[in-house]
Amino acid sequence: MKTVIILGSVRTERQGHKAAYFIQKCLNDFGMETVLVDCKIYNLPMLDFMYKEMKDPEQKFKDLHDIFVSADGFILVTAEYNHGIPPALKNMLDHFQSEFFFKPAGIVSYSEGYFGGARAVEPLRSVSAELGMPAIPIAYHIPKIKTSFDDEGNPTDPAAPSRAERFIKEFDWYIRAMKAGREGGTPY
Ligand SMILES: Cc1cc2nc3c(=O)[nH]c(=O)nc-3n(C[C@H](O)[C@H](O)[C@H](O)COP(=O)(O)O)c2cc1C
Repeated sequence: MKTVIILGSVRTERQGHKAAYFIQKCLNDFGMETVLVDCKIYNLPMLDFMYKEMKDPEQKFKDLHDIFVSADGFILVTAEYNHGIPPALKNMLDHFQSEFFFKPAGIVSYSEGYFGGARAVEPLRSVSAELGMPAIPIAYHIPKIKTSFDDEGNPTDPAAPSRAERFIKEFDWYIRAMKAGREGGTPY
């Protein structure tokens, strides 16, 4: 099972890398193969052509296409910007489409405050549903992102990995179920 983690914040002083590294380690410890797609590294232009419309795509678009096609599921790591999702995350998702079809999404949200980015989760569910990757019921919320992890994503609270367990188990069930479903054929 291969999970692609998409880290959607690109600010110079971003905190999102901490959440992404943390969840990647939890998924790896669970036994999943993971690839981290960091929107800051790919630095995509604002959407002009979707990948499927590009006549001669740049190498980075081809690389992203291949990574997304090879995934069995996606973990979307989102901040909450004005009760919405970060523009770089939306921009990354908008460039692609069928790469996501019939695969589940797990949402990890975080914020500086106490609500853990919860208000970005619902709009992201609508986006992922439209892209054919329905989000699993449980989302993993991380409050107080600034002080809850070091820069490598190690949590200050030793109980943090065990709190992620239920989310990961549910995600694992959905990736297995949808993989089995894809193997039986898809309607399009
Ligand atoms: C443009 C912007 C809008 C924000 N809006 C919210 C918000 O609506 N709710 C919230 O809890 N935090 C909000 N914050 C604070 C973020 O939770 C905090 O800055 C977090 O670290 C952002 O993720 P990032 O550092 O990975 O970019 C906002 C931050 C920015 C930069």
